[in-house]
Amino acid sequence: MSDSTILSPTAHSHAFVQSQREAAFNDPATYWATQAKELLAWRSQWHTTKDTSFDPKNVNIRWFDGGTLNVAENCIDRHLATRGDKPAIIWEPDSPHDPKRILTYSDLHREVSRAANMLLSLGVKPGDRVTIYMPMIPEAAIAMLACARIGAPHSVVFGGFSAQALRSRIEDCESSVIITADGGMRGGKVIDLKNNVDTALEGLSDTKVLVFRHTGHRVSWVEERDIWWQELAETVAAECEAKPFDAEHPLFILYTSGSTGKPKGLLHTSGGYLLYATHTFQHVFDYQEEDVYWCTADVGWITGHSYIVYGPLAAGATTLMFEGVPTYPDAGRFWEIVEKYRVSLFYTAPTAIRMLQREGDDFVTRYDRSSLRILGSVGEPINPEAWQWYHTVVGNKTCHLVDTWWQTETGGHMITPLPGVDETPPGSATQPYFGIRPVLHNTDGQALEAAASGALCIADSWPGQARTIWGDHARFVETYFSAFPGTYFSGDAANRDEQGNYWIEGRMDDVINMAGHRLGTAEIEAAINAHSDIAESAVVGIPDDIKGQAIYAFVIMKPNKHLDDEIRTAINGLLRREVGPIASLKYIQEAPGLPKTRSGKIMRRILRKIAAGEVTSKNHYDKLGDISTLVNPEQVDALVEGRLQ
Ligand code: WTA
Repeated sequence: MSDSTILSPTAHSHAFVQSQREAAFNDPATYWATQAKELLAWRSQWHTTKDTSFDPKNVNIRWFDGGTLNVAENCIDRHLATRGDKPAIIWEPDSPHDPKRILTYSDLHREVSRAANMLLSLGVKPGDRVTIYMPMIPEAAIAMLACARIGAPHSVVFGGFSAQALRSRIEDCESSVIITADGGMRGGKVIDLKNNVDTALEGLSDTKVLVFRHTGHRVSWVEERDIWWQELAETVAAECEAKPFDAEHPLFILYTSGSTGKPKGLLHTSGGYLLYATHTFQHVFDYQEEDVYWCTADVGWITGHSYIVYGPLAAGATTLMFEGVPTYPDAGRFWEIVEKYRVSLFYTAPTAIRMLQREGDDFVTRYDRSSLRILGSVGEPINPEAWQWYHTVVGNKTCHLVDTWWQTETGGHMITPLPGVDETPPGSATQPYFGIRPVLHNTDGQALEAAASGALCIADSWPGQARTIWGDHARFVETYFSAFPGTYFSGDAANRDEQGNYWIEGRMDDVINMAGHRLGTAEIEAAINAHSDIAESAVVGIPDDIKGQAIYAFVIMKPNKHLDDEIRTAINGLLRREVGPIASLKYIQEAPGLPKTRSGKIMRRILRKIAAGEVTSKNHYDKLGDISTLVNPEQVDALVEGRLQ
């Protein structure tokens, strides 16, 4: 590596990484069995390390069958003897003027045990689903670990999702206990979480709501149903036995969007997931005992699950949680926090990097960033300009930059450089992780060799993989294992270059990745169609300088109705209500009709090109490819003419 003389040293050597790659590739079961014994504390030994099949007729994924462990014990109890006084969680509030909180591993043990006892007192049993709808405060992690301690799978719903979105997730996994807070703080504003829970639960009976008092503002209260966390905590013991659970016992459900239908609840289980989160955390961030690690994601996403809570805590690390936003009180906030806590490992999303880059270098350089060693990127492709700025300005050219490609479904990193070992061409996620076997398929389903571009699939199972979709195994098989039989299909396209580096090209399905948030076209269209003047709609992603993608909507109005600003505002209001504030439309174009195939399928490929401005006149129709299969090719003219920009 040309820059290696100035990059900070890492623990990895080429020889070590090479030997691990070979071992994991040649015999994954033996490799992961060895790693599982080294990294986790088991209560009983498994009998079968790997029992997996990607055959669409029998998709089955089991790791460490017969083994038992307790995930919370692995994240907390086993560290007490050597790290009891070490900070486990550092919490930085939204306002820099409010007090920070530091919880040591001993503190975490006490708080998680109490919270686990609180759940037991509410009647929660192993296997019962608990919904967590929390701001970014330590109690979010405490609630997750309390669930893990008593074997109750959690479903964390991102606090930016609306009451409607929360309700459908509560109903889907039939959870009768909700953990929330009165509110959360973001950029000086209160997010009224409790109010959303109240709306979500309207008409649902037999639920309990545990409410952590955080912002202190007045909230409405339903007697019998609502319980203050702080009050219940006083009535329970600070000790709670950690019982062993099967390696395949469900640890959590996490909802994510697909191209069709409602969000799907990906199910992750205990042993394999925890091993994979811990292993990748340690190697990809070159974790050392004295590191201060900060991931800026929200615990409501998989990044927060694997790389704020489970991976770092199982490794005995200090993990920082930040409640606020990168630009409050100003665009220097991230770097102020880095300086304040001497953060050494930093993990964020390209959208945040691009947003801060736009604000200028001064906000960065006025703070001391000399503690930083490793910079990570996740959630969307990072463009080379943003990569360079992150590396040069934020990292002062001394930090390794790891662009990590993975998904809710994969549980942990899949394609990523190992710092200090792999070359890092800006914009490439580079190399498969230990034991990961990527395959690129063409549209005919043929596996491509050498340098090529295609559908990014994975040929064999890894321990961190999601096991199923909650309540719908058939959909799991259909979504991930049917397009390219025998392999897991990620939904992304990728290019592999001559050096074997992977360049992620984006989604092949109708998922829109806006600011690193996965949004399904079907959910968005359903919200738009809820407007009484709209007959039909189709949304597509268009390139956006900051957010990566923005949403462009085409709507067909009902007879005698016309799109105006009032309706535009109402549509965005519906989106906020049905999905949440993270989903807003950049453009809404009135369309006389939508290009469809004879079977009635909307040709989104064509809409994407029109919305992106790739087709400006009839001369450019060749850019659309074959449109002869359309029943209504004449619609294309009208759409091109009416394009908004
Ligand atoms: C995209 C987030 C390019 C990709 C961990 C994937 C990325 C989806 C990268 C998963 C990356 C994630 N480079 N694209 N480094 N990381 N993606 O489930 O399209 O929220 O399929 O998981 O984000 O999003 P999810």
